[in-house]
Amino acid sequence: MTKLVALIGYPLQHSISPAFQQAAFDFYGLDIRYEKWEVEASHLEATVNRLRQPSVLGANVTIPHKEVVVPLLDEVDEVVRQIGAVNTIVQRDGRLLGYNTDAPGFVRALRGDGQFEPRGKWAVLLGAGGAARGVAFALVTEGVSRLTIINRTLGRAECLGSVIREGAGARVEIIVLPWEEAESGEALSGCHLLVNCTSVGMKHSPTEDKSPLRGGALPGNALVCDLVYNPIETPLLREAKKAGSRVLGGLSMLVYQGAASFEMWTDRKAPVDIMLKRARESLD
Ligand SMILES: NC(=O)c1ccc[n+]([C@@H]2O[C@H](COP(=O)([O-])OP(=O)(O)OC[C@H]3O[C@@H](n4cnc5c(N)ncnc54)[C@H](OP(=O)(O)O)[C@@H]3O)[C@@H](O)[C@H]2O)c1
Repeated sequence: MTKLVALIGYPLQHSISPAFQQAAFDFYGLDIRYEKWEVEASHLEATVNRLRQPSVLGANVTIPHKEVVVPLLDEVDEVVRQIGAVNTIVQRDGRLLGYNTDAPGFVRALRGDGQFEPRGKWAVLLGAGGAARGVAFALVTEGVSRLTIINRTLGRAECLGSVIREGAGARVEIIVLPWEEAESGEALSGCHLLVNCTSVGMKHSPTEDKSPLRGGALPGNALVCDLVYNPIETPLLREAKKAGSRVLGGLSMLVYQGAASFEMWTDRKAPVDIMLKRARESLD
């Protein structure tokens, strides 16, 4: 019987996960199909219940359902309890188990591709949505000493700041700033790592071709990391290179979080090089 893995989100038109996950299943000759299930919020519960069928191995969950899906599952791990968001579901004996592989995917990309050791460093996050939550949690777990969170909607950044502060205690200095401060540039001066966790610059979006920060506001000696993966060189990364910074794009993180999901569904080592190659080829 052909097994299924679903991708649940809305919209899914530009997602490249189906391409690189299917390439990984095909590499091992597994009879598994990765399907897009484009669902609006009103149908989410019924759709999640379809995952209990024996033919389903599990699912990936993406925007906008990562947070609202949590109470629909039977069990979640400690990372999900801390972050409050699920991107991977595994089906076992009709029970749905929720995990979050965004945080480990980010850390693997940061250490491996970015050659960056977070311990004792000062990191600045732009954004306070689901992705920022995962990245903030990962950075604090990996021992950053200072974390600045900057978001267009200040209340959302404050909320994320309190959640992280509660979990991390006095180990980390958490600073929350309004967006205008980032644009002044002074707030970022001297930071070691800047991570764009907003969707600004994403192809096919209203902010395609835009950078979340002007070149003059960028820290010169930091590693600048963009979670946006399409295009590979985003406007932010282009500006950062001009400012003399090292850069890290979002594609490796995307593939690593997918590789971790693949390993949970199949108990096999993910063929990361094949997944990365297919991911690159699939960008439109
Ligand atoms: N590479 C990867 O593996 C990976 C993994 C996860 C996510 N991502 C990418 O990360 C991005 C964010 O995802 P998410 O799940 O966190 O989405 P989300 O929960 O919808 O959050 C979006 C964030 O972007 C900000 N934003 C949106 N438009 C903006 C604008 N015009 N100016 C300034 N800020 C703006 C929002 O600010 P407000 O709060 O003010 O609305 C919010 O902080 C997406 O592009 C997603 O594709 C990549």
